[in-house]
Amino acid sequence: MKRNENHWKPAVRLSDAVSSGRALLCSAAGPDEPPDAMTIGWGFWGTLWNKSVFLAYIRPSRHTFKNLKTWPFFSVNCFDDPDRKEWFRICGTESFREKDKIKELQIPVERYGQEKIPYIREAPLSLICKIISVQALDPGAVPEDVESHFYKGHDYHHLFWGEVIGLIDCHSGGNPV
Ligand SMILES: Cc1cc2nc3c(=O)[nH]c(=O)nc-3n(C[C@H](O)[C@H](O)[C@H](O)COP(=O)(O)O)c2cc1C
Repeated sequence: MKRNENHWKPAVRLSDAVSSGRALLCSAAGPDEPPDAMTIGWGFWGTLWNKSVFLAYIRPSRHTFKNLKTWPFFSVNCFDDPDRKEWFRICGTESFREKDKIKELQIPVERYGQEKIPYIREAPLSLICKIISVQALDPGAVPEDVESHFYKGHDYHHLFWGEVIGLIDCHSGGNPV
């Protein structure tokens, strides 16, 4: 997606969905591997290196982490209302390691482009991303109160920088661009 395309309107919806626990990050270990979905509560969409980029914070303990390290694509699927509460709850508390959440919850997954990147058809807004950089969070750079609240188990997030290579937005017809 070109940097100068107007993405600020959907960015507000994305920010609202992510911060309200209504966003699912979809990943897989490869184009023909089963997709996984996990709820994300943190993340940013903005401009970096003249590219449109989504920044996801993922802990190494997640199955999703393994997927992202294996195959450099993911989608961020944002919902406008809490109708899918059960999806957000289960995808935020259970791991693919124990349960194929997408299969069990019958979440409708489509594949985007030649790479076959999984995304959720029912989401009003999906960002399709290609990972261009990964960075482990530097424990030395974390404020003390954050450290004691979020990192007692030393499961420090890694930062996954995903270039937005596609956008599916029902507010603009719902067609992939
Ligand atoms: C509201 C909410 C937001 C969450 N946000 C994140 C996040 O941004 N990063 C992260 O690593 N885990 C986050 N989690 C936890 C994962 O969604 C959870 O551990 C999930 O079961 C991982 O699934 P997986 O092992 O199949 O990848 C969040 C959970 C909830 C309920």
